[in-house]
Amino acid sequence: MDNNRSSWGSNLGFLLAAIGSAVGLGNIWGFPYKMGKSGGFTFLIVYLLLAIFVGMIIMVSELAVGRKTKLSPIDAYQKVSKKFAWIGWLATIAPFLIMSFYTVLGGYCLQYIALNMTKLSFGNDSVAMGGGDVFGAMLTTPIGCVVFTTLFIIICMVIVQGGVSGGIEKFNKVGMPALFVMLLIIIVRSLTLPNAAEGLKFMFVPGYAVKAGFIEKAPDLITVLGTAGGQMFFSLSLAMGAILTYGSYLSKEENLVKNSVIIVAADTLIALMAGIAVIPAAVSYGLNQGMAPGEITLRGPGLLFITLQDVFSNMGKLGPLFGVIFYVLVLIAAISSAISLMETIAAHWIDKDLEKGETDTRQRNVLIVSLLILLEAVVVAADGLGSNFSPASLLGIKTVPTFLDCFLDFMDCWSEGIAMPLGAMIMALMIGWENTPDLVLDEVAHGDPSQGFKAFYRLCVKFIVPIVMAFVLAGQMIDFFGGNQIIWYVVAFALLVIFWIVAAVGKKPEQA
Ligand code: PHE
Repeated sequence: MDNNRSSWGSNLGFLLAAIGSAVGLGNIWGFPYKMGKSGGFTFLIVYLLLAIFVGMIIMVSELAVGRKTKLSPIDAYQKVSKKFAWIGWLATIAPFLIMSFYTVLGGYCLQYIALNMTKLSFGNDSVAMGGGDVFGAMLTTPIGCVVFTTLFIIICMVIVQGGVSGGIEKFNKVGMPALFVMLLIIIVRSLTLPNAAEGLKFMFVPGYAVKAGFIEKAPDLITVLGTAGGQMFFSLSLAMGAILTYGSYLSKEENLVKNSVIIVAADTLIALMAGIAVIPAAVSYGLNQGMAPGEITLRGPGLLFITLQDVFSNMGKLGPLFGVIFYVLVLIAAISSAISLMETIAAHWIDKDLEKGETDTRQRNVLIVSLLILLEAVVVAADGLGSNFSPASLLGIKTVPTFLDCFLDFMDCWSEGIAMPLGAMIMALMIGWENTPDLVLDEVAHGDPSQGFKAFYRLCVKFIVPIVMAFVLAGQMIDFFGGNQIIWYVVAFALLVIFWIVAAVGKKPEQA
């Protein structure tokens, strides 16, 4: 069956696709804000340590399991684990849930591109452009959001139907360099705005966010660990099946460790660059409008779709042009990530058909997956981030925990909040204790890792990754469910202990 399975055209093509998957909305609006809020440099150091000791390890592991089995997540995990085969389902359902809102956000980008283009062609006063008004009007027009979400899904569908090297690789080969250039343009524009230095200080000077009044209180180190860990995983596309699936199309010759280092480094670089592009512009605009630092929206959808739109609207004649460049950049980042999620889901059925001897079923399978994604995305598009209705309003709940305040958060809670940290924790335990780290190291050996790397890998996969993931899981549950923090730490560590025992006790499975 291998013969008919897709593969990348080249290692560079694979790298650009994997970087494309990693670089997404997470980099552009998650990273900068979390960095500023969590004490700038402290966050960056914690993030980098986690990326090396945890992110890199899971990245190498996913690539290895994918390439060894040459299967998509559900079947791949069935092959390498008896006890935890079900995490393959987590790694397929989670991308499906993420797509419910990722596509809606992609649709917002399309609307903002259209808006700034209209402004560009009709001049200054014909279109009202205040970020808050534009955003509010968009959210309360569900039909528009549904239409643009559908358009975004169609774009992704066409690319994924084009195939692994004919569609996904091709898109990223053009998209990633273009994104990089556009990011540089926006950085230059952002840093030359008045007061831009305040934004840089928010990001990079320890304690500045509190001192200057951007936030009230700095989080403690454990909270930073949870926040940075969650951000790192989402940003690197880990524990969602995407990297595993992309790895399954990779040739045996390629060096998995080197590839992982490049992907992690590129993703982190782009996250930092995105921060430097976005935060100084937002801060500059706010301060020049006479806002207090605490009043400037630097997080979430508000940052991209209110604050930055205000920045572009107040930039004079060239504003809409920068607006178009910026939202196209975000759109490319969103598409390159969304296609990796779509591929991960569709790959399961494409593989199944291949097993039955049916080749060329990609078109049909991707179409079905796209339709299913559309069904769930319609709900997220229509609720307008809770402006029109929300899980809480439907249930008649008054004091609303984060996970019920809109359908985006609801879907995000189960995927990024729970499936991701749990999946990563169990994957590490499965490799480190149920199986043996050699499951991965033998596969990596096609690029022959050094003794030093082997020892490092064993230490991380057996101990460091599972423990860090318990902190991340607790952090996510605190964010989404609120309530007593201690309880969530107890829950997360109880799960860790249970799965650790399950993994370590009893027979080891045959090596796949
Ligand atoms: N990494 C993407 C981002 O930063 C999101 C993503 C998560 C993509 C998981 C694929 C898998 O936005």
